[in-house]
Formats: sequence, C-alpha cells, structure tokens
Amino acid sequence: MALKMQSILSARFDKENSYHIDTYRADGGYETYLETIKGEKGTPEELVALVKESGLKGRGGAGFSTGMKWSFLPKGTDKPIYLCVNGDESEPGTFKDRQIVEFDPHQLVEGVGITCYAIGAHTAYIYLRCEFALGIRRVKDAIRQAYEAGFFGKDIQGTGFDLDVHVHIGGGAYICGEETSLLNSIEGVRPYPRNKPPFPAVEGLFGDPTIINNVETIANIPHIVKNGAEWYSGFGHPEDPGVRLWCVSGHVNNPGVFEIETGFSLQELIDGPCGGMKNGKKLKAVIPGGSSSKVLMPDEVAQVTMDTPTIRGFDSSLGSAGIIVLDEDTDMVEAVRNLMKFYAHESCGQCTPCREGTPWIVKILNRLCTGKGRQEDMDLLLDLASNIEGRTVCALADGACWPLTSIVKKFRHEFEAKVAAATPVGAS
Ligand SMILES: Cc1cc2nc3c(=O)[nH]c(=O)nc-3n(C[C@H](O)[C@H](O)[C@H](O)COP(=O)(O)O)c2cc1C
Ligand code: SF4
Repeated sequence: MALKMQSILSARFDKENSYHIDTYRADGGYETYLETIKGEKGTPEELVALVKESGLKGRGGAGFSTGMKWSFLPKGTDKPIYLCVNGDESEPGTFKDRQIVEFDPHQLVEGVGITCYAIGAHTAYIYLRCEFALGIRRVKDAIRQAYEAGFFGKDIQGTGFDLDVHVHIGGGAYICGEETSLLNSIEGVRPYPRNKPPFPAVEGLFGDPTIINNVETIANIPHIVKNGAEWYSGFGHPEDPGVRLWCVSGHVNNPGVFEIETGFSLQELIDGPCGGMKNGKKLKAVIPGGSSSKVLMPDEVAQVTMDTPTIRGFDSSLGSAGIIVLDEDTDMVEAVRNLMKFYAHESCGQCTPCREGTPWIVKILNRLCTGKGRQEDMDLLLDLASNIEGRTVCALADGACWPLTSIVKKFRHEFEAKVAAATPVGAS
C-alpha cells in the first residue's frame, strides 16, 4: 500500500493560536459535540455502534477496539460512569499525545464531550504527566474556554446533559500510564496496577464503571462522529483501518510526528518523509512500536507494512507508534542496557518477577558492557525473561522482556563479541 500522509488530527498543529477556542471554532469545532448532545447524531447506543464500526483501535499501546471497550459498560447501571483520558505518555519513543495537548487541546476536549455522551458519563478526568507543563496549561485553558462557551456544566444548552471535566496531573512515573495504576493515582492511593478482572468498564474509578482511553484515541472521536464510520474505515489497511500519529526518533535526518494511514511501508517512511538515514549510515534495526516492542532487522523493515496483522507476522507490534531507528554504529548491547535500566527503575515493585528480575537483567547487561561478561549470560537473560513474561500483574514486565529477548536472539553475535573481549576473571 502506498504511503498516504493525512492532515486530520494534525490539521491545526502548525496554525497560529492553534490551541485557542476561536481557532478551533473557526474550523467548525464543537459543532459535532453540540449536535451530539441534542441527540442529532444518534442515541448513545448508536454512537457506540458507530465507533465500533469505524474500526478505531486504542492508540495507547494495546490496540483494543474502542467501540467494543465502550460496549462492555454495564447497561442500565445506577452507578456513575467515568471517562479517564490517558495522557501519561511515558513510553520511550512516543511523543504524539504531547502534540495534541499542546497544539490542539480543543480537539481532545470535544472528543471527551462526545465520548461522555456516548457512554453515559457525566464526569471526565484528563490525566496528564507533570512534565507536560505547556500541555497542562493549554488543556486547562481549553476546558475553561469550553465552560465559558456554555459547553460544559449543568443542563448544557438546555439539553438536560450534564458534564464536568477535570485535569489530573501525574507525578511522572511510567507505571501511572497503565490504566488501573492511573485510576489508583487519581484516587490518591499508591498507584499499583490492579488485578484484572474485574476490568475497569465494570469496576474502575472509585469502584464504578470507567472507560480509559488514550489521548489520540479520544481526539479521533469528533472526526468519526462527524464523518461516519465508513469514512474512517476507508483509510489504511482494511483489517486495521484509520490514520495514526507515528513518532519517529533516532538516526534519521528528519525525525518527528507524521500522520499517515495505516498499512504503509516502514522502509518508505524512513527513506521518504524521514529523509533517510543520518550521515548516510546503514540501518541496523528498528524498534517499531515504542520501547516495549520487539526489534526488526533491516530485511524485515524492507518488507513490513505498518498495520497490526502484517507486523504481527513479523513477531512485533505497533504499540504506541513510537518508531526508534538505529544505525549501523549502534551498540545493541548498550542500547538494550539503556532500555532495561528504564524498566528496572520504573517497576512499581508489586510483583516479585518484575521487581527482582528487571534489576537482575540490568546487572547482567552491566557486566557484559564493562568487560566482565560470561559465556552463559545470553542464555541466562533469555531464561530470566521466560520466567518473568506472563507472570506479573501488569504488562510492564512483558514490555521489558519483548525488546530484550528479540535483541538477544537477533544480535547474539554482539553479545558474544563482548564476552570474547572480556577480561578473564583473575587476570589483572
Ligand atoms: C506500563 C504501562 C504503561 C502504559 N502507559 C500508557 C500511556 O502512557 N498512555 C496510554 O495511553 N496508554 C498507556 N498504557 C496502556 C494503558 O494501560 C491502556 O491500555 C490505554 O490507556 C487504553 O487506551 P486505548 O484503548 O485508547 O489505547 C500503558 C500500559 C502499561 C502496561
Ligand atoms: S509487572 Fe512490574 S510494574 Fe507491573 S505491577 Fe508488577 S511489579 Fe509493578
């Protein structure tokens, strides 16, 4: 499939005062929301069905169908329903939600309004990491402007619909992006991820039914409700349709955020919009979906297209669309050590395999990188990962094991070279 750039979510990113309500309304902003709450876009059930039909999948990393998730809310419940928007964005290599909150916060805020109507929520929280100082200010301003325009509050525009929207600022811990940890963080308790089931749609914030969606997921909602399910499902790969904000970092001439329909060639992205490899170097590897995804080799990069079914065939994932490009000079053992230090540091410590296993992995990688590696270290790393993966409360530990095992397997020769160059024990 040809690479098709789009300008839907990113349409206003470069406009002057892109974040102001006047700029947003000049483009027809909030019209879809106002029509929605007047019932002109269908019943809440019809809106959930529309989002399901559109094929939109969560943009936070797991890629679960958004409409399907919404449909898991209990029907006819007398409990309050909450919407929590996940703007923690701490996956290494991922910086797209930041673009939305800084440059088009109203798109997100309108998405929150429409989503709340569709799922029957009257309270929404937008959870933003504390490092997003500008984004926090802009989202808070956007919410204030929306209240002033009469879009939020009680009996909005005489429709009988009530909605309050709050910003909650996280402390900057990676684990708070895990959805149940995020709920605990909002509740003000230690943000340990919760065991599932019960899933948040049934028992979430304050024990009540809750939908948690990523910032980019929610920013898509005004467009889908405005233009219809067929419009959205017509973009990109038929089995994983839509447009996504892809973040490219690493050794390319033109890194950044690119809005492209799914199903494009990864090689074409690197050679085209990203301007090729920096300093004319050769490609060594790509981590395609944020740091928690399995690495791809150059021959795989040449063949893979960026959609879920295809990348799965290459035993990797699209994750949060954080594409990290590494050139021929990259020391892959150092690269994975760098990543593993992050996971060990960010482990919340709740589960033994993660709490004990991730620092142990770092310890082994430290000795490999400092001339003290042992022949058995590569198998020990794989053995450790096999004892961690799938044995923990949340996916942080799995996310540490996936890049580790793929790099050990695909770049074993680099690990062996470090062992061969190591100073023998006892030698001075
Ligand atoms: C350790 C960890 C960190 C995560 N960090 C984020 C994050 O920063 N932002 C996000 O949207 N999802 C993050 N997720 C995924 C969320 O748990 C959840 O799947 C997502 O917010 C659901 O929204 P979506 O369906 O719209 O993708 C993380 C998951 C894990 C295990
Ligand atoms: S896997 Fe790690 S981060 Fe997740 S709950 Fe367990 S200890 Fe915490």
